Amino acid sequence: MPLNSVITGTGSYIPTVVKTNADFINERFYCEKNEPFDATNEVIIEKFKAITGIEERRYASDNLNSSDIAAIAAQRAIADANIDPETLDYIIFAQNFGDIKKNTIQTDIIPSLAARVKQILKIENPHCVAYDIIFGCPGWIQGMIQAHLFIKAGEAKRCLVIGSETLSRVLDMHDRDSMIYSDGAGAAIVEAQEGDVKTGILGFSAMSHTLEEAGYLFLGKTNYPDGDPNVRYLKMFGRKIYEYALNHVPDAMKAALDKNGIDIHQVKKVFMHQANEKMDEAIIKRFFRLYKTPTPKNIMPMSIHKLGNSSVATVPTLLNMVLKNKLENHQINKGDVVVLASVGAGMNINAIVYKF
Ligand SMILES: CC(C)(COP(=O)(O)OP(=O)(O)OC[C@H]1O[C@@H](n2cnc3c(N)ncnc32)[C@H](O)[C@@H]1OP(=O)(O)O)[C@@H](O)C(=O)NCCC(=O)NCCS
Repeated sequence: MPLNSVITGTGSYIPTVVKTNADFINERFYCEKNEPFDATNEVIIEKFKAITGIEERRYASDNLNSSDIAAIAAQRAIADANIDPETLDYIIFAQNFGDIKKNTIQTDIIPSLAARVKQILKIENPHCVAYDIIFGCPGWIQGMIQAHLFIKAGEAKRCLVIGSETLSRVLDMHDRDSMIYSDGAGAAIVEAQEGDVKTGILGFSAMSHTLEEAGYLFLGKTNYPDGDPNVRYLKMFGRKIYEYALNHVPDAMKAALDKNGIDIHQVKKVFMHQANEKMDEAIIKRFFRLYKTPTPKNIMPMSIHKLGNSSVATVPTLLNMVLKNKLENHQINKGDVVVLASVGAGMNINAIVYKF
């Protein structure tokens, strides 16, 4: 009997601190020349919203680190799947900055965040192997691909895949691009299921472009003239990322479908990494254009307006929201084929085709 990798539970944690665009009105943003921008903050914020669609984002409360919010999302996914956590074969944790205590801007990844979650969940079983992956924003999807391959190889029956990040702790508040970022955690349980009908993960694709692109997202010093030059923050070349994503994400999505002989007309939803609304809309248009097909209405659920870009957490959180009917006008029905796709630091891109 064919072995399918099926999502049996999802969970997410949406942090409680709401940071609206208006909350940035008194920040002092500086340009590359270490000078304030000519435009007022009203104009900068208005333009930011027009480009990205972001109205507000969430920050984790001071007492919670990435592994804490991850553990909450994981507990919710475990409860949703109704499984005993002791039966997990793997905990795969996608992250990029580790735990960062508030006001420290220092990455802490010893022990791994997966190990911390395993400890918080009080899992005793030593055969539950816990490790982290660093793959930029596409990390959670990459973790799902790894879980799928463990299942296909007969090495695992049940995996917990988490994506969690607290980007609010690595932001330069003098950088207008920092308004993009937010905190969050999402998780899924993936299980091996025998079945004649092929469901679950039908196929995937992944790519890394590094020769020039490795420098598109990096840690760099602030443009604020009075800032400490030894402290480094999350920085990006936004326009380059934008163009890169437009040029490559549609191809990766197409590869995931074509490699597995899946017709574009079967695709009911696309769960895209939430980085920029305009960018996501342009990607989806290009994707359907590759098939000479008009973009279907309401195909791409979006959470960016209220949740911003929480890196590895955006896709699992969005999936959880739709599966739990928490996003208006978006439902998933049995038999629906969906695409999950992401792009981010590395630069890395990936896509999964999934049948419910
Ligand atoms: C950063 C980003 C918002 C900038 O938007 P853009 O349209 O590429 O910006 P450009 O540099 O071409 O500048 C266009 C205008 O927007 C302004 N602008 C640029 N970045 C801005 C920001 N963060 N906030 C407000 N305005 C911004 C520019 O000043 C320029 O204004 P002008 O028309 O008055 O001259 C956009 O490139 C982006 O979201 N990129 C993808 C980032 C991403 O996905 N990062 C995470 C990867 S996981």
